[in-house]
Amino acid sequence: MANPRRAISLQIPTQTPPFPTAAASSSSSLPSSLLHFLKRPASFPFLLFLFLLLTWISLRFHQPAPSTSLQRPIVAHDPQANLVRYPAALHPTPIAADGRGWLLDPVAAARDAGLPGGALVCLSLHVGVVQPGGLRGNHRHHTCNETFVIWGAKTKFRLENADVKDKGYGEAIIAADEVAVVASTRSTAHALINMDVRPTFFLGCQDTPINPNSSNTDYKVWKDL
Ligand SMILES: *[C@@H]1O[C@H](CO)[C@@H](O)[C@H](O)[C@H]1NC(C)=O
Ligand SMILES: *[C@@H]1O[C@H](CO)[C@@H](O)[C@H](O)[C@H]1NC(C)=O
Repeated sequence: MANPRRAISLQIPTQTPPFPTAAASSSSSLPSSLLHFLKRPASFPFLLFLFLLLTWISLRFHQPAPSTSLQRPIVAHDPQANLVRYPAALHPTPIAADGRGWLLDPVAAARDAGLPGGALVCLSLHVGVVQPGGLRGNHRHHTCNETFVIWGAKTKFRLENADVKDKGYGEAIIAADEVAVVASTRSTAHALINMDVRPTFFLGCQDTPINPNSSNTDYKVWKDL
């Protein structure tokens, strides 16, 4: 323990002389009295202060670095529910370029996230809310593909999926601080369930301007919802 300490105390005096020397060689117009002052041991506290000041400035300058690394895009995929979740409040992410908040094009977001089967055009749009404990959907449209955006509360999304053994559906939980994009291809049942104490908001983009009725839509698909 004694050796490193001695090494540190030796390092400071050996490091300080190059300062005035470098200053003297780079700018010969400096007043010689200042140069003499810097060469004297009495200048050590001044140089130390300067060093601490520069350290403080550099630490202040580097402060944003840790918060930037915390703001890395965190994109969560739920392939069984054909859903992707983004953090709503962070940036930069694929849906938020800066601190103003998120903004997305449902069709482009689904495509960019690699979600197959969604609407490629929005010929019919629905924007709505699901109150706490409420359920929307639980139906199967046969004449349109649909892309959803869901946010605002802890919400369960269920999507019919024959690849999921036994259940026949995939599910994802969207957290209150997340934005989800979902693609539901035609003839695929879907349901949204608000599991929170605050409202869930959603947008549904359909590629056919259907007026849902019993001939193009199956209702109450899942009995457990
Ligand atoms: C739905 O998507 C499929 C491809 O996944 C496409 O062939 C079809 O034209 C789309 N629209 C409707 C209304 O089925
Ligand atoms: C249901 O809607 C379709 C259009 O999507 C329409 O052609 C049909 O007549 C409607 N059927 C009933 C029973 O209302």
